[in-house]
Amino acid sequence: MTDNLDLHQQAQLQRMQAHLQAVLAGQGGWLGFARYMDEALYAPGLGYYSAGARKLGAGGDFTTAPELSPLFGGCVARQCEQVLRTLGGGDVLELGAGSGRLAFDVLQALAQADSLPQRYLILEVSADLRQRQQELLATLPAALADRVQWLDAPPAQGWRGVLLANEVLDALPCDCFVMGADGQVLERGVTLDTAGALVWQSRPATASLAAEVLRLQSQLPQPLEAGYASELCLRAGPWVAAVTAQLQAGVALFIDYGLPRAQYYQPARDGGTLRCHWRQRAHDDPLWLPGLQDITAWVDFTRVAEAADDCGLQVLGFTTQMGFLLGTGIETLIAAAPEGVARTRRLTEARELLMPEAMGESFKVIALGRNWHTPLTGFAVQDLLERL
Ligand SMILES: C[S@@+](CC[C@H](N)C(=O)[O-])C[C@H]1O[C@@H](n2cnc3c(N)ncnc32)[C@H](O)[C@@H]1O
Repeated sequence: MTDNLDLHQQAQLQRMQAHLQAVLAGQGGWLGFARYMDEALYAPGLGYYSAGARKLGAGGDFTTAPELSPLFGGCVARQCEQVLRTLGGGDVLELGAGSGRLAFDVLQALAQADSLPQRYLILEVSADLRQRQQELLATLPAALADRVQWLDAPPAQGWRGVLLANEVLDALPCDCFVMGADGQVLERGVTLDTAGALVWQSRPATASLAAEVLRLQSQLPQPLEAGYASELCLRAGPWVAAVTAQLQAGVALFIDYGLPRAQYYQPARDGGTLRCHWRQRAHDDPLWLPGLQDITAWVDFTRVAEAADDCGLQVLGFTTQMGFLLGTGIETLIAAAPEGVARTRRLTEARELLMPEAMGESFKVIALGRNWHTPLTGFAVQDLLERL
């Protein structure tokens, strides 16, 4: 499986394997999955987001909505425009800005709408993606590029405006569990087999993980059966709280693939939702090529709504990507494209963004607000709030 790695990738993989062996040795030979995912994605200089793989777009591992079409950024910009106009100005804070494409499209659209933010802040954990963002955004006119600032941590001072996070929640390390025969909760983790290969191994869950699995089970229409395996993201709540802590007035939009809790933990979804991305192929083996492939899990949007409650944010809306793009007027953006090849291209892209069997339904948008009282345009066509 690994024979088509280039020399640089082979060396990175070997260093990551040595790193994981050392971490495992220091932890008694076993790591909970969240810790493993943390190392595989974020170990300094070695993890997928810390080392220099190309990741997004052509020649990378996966393609996100902003990479697919400027229609996505155009629609997001319309939602930003409503918030910035209502507030009489403010900032945009984007988390995990990838190649910088969303920032590029949003800033251009907001300039055209004469509604530029005072600052466009980017919080990015990946050094090489930050560099890619800097290169792309430097090609914008100075009046736009000068507004962009990179942060190393969530804002320390109060700010007003819009927070954007597209496909970031799915990258937070999640905990994997499996239900035992006697109703006991087991935590799934990794160890090394006798040949030194990474393999799954389950252990009795920590008290906090077991309590959380039992809490979410109590909210489901039926108990989870013995052998049922899935994941949950204990870090999501503290992360949402941290990134929104200084938002004094405005809206936070989290866009990702995911489901409300009752659907996430349906019996049919036994096995969970871990997805790995390698050279535009998706599969479900996170132990393969640690550090070289992306690892993600779908988002339990009920958990995001609970996190909002816990940190004094209001859940303003929840919809599918299709609902959000229709609400923010994707048809008018398509119609504005010059007739001919450009319009045809936009129509093809819109199909991919909107169709239920493509990105339209699996991706959802949740809006959280603080000191915000106006209905949001992105949720005017469809709001699924009651499903959370
Ligand atoms: C799947 S990519 C999505 C990129 C971009 N938002 C897009 O839609 O094209 C995930 C992004 O989140 C960043 N990221 C991962 N974990 C993060 C964290 N804890 N805080 C901020 N950014 C993070 C990654 O470096 C990357 O830029």
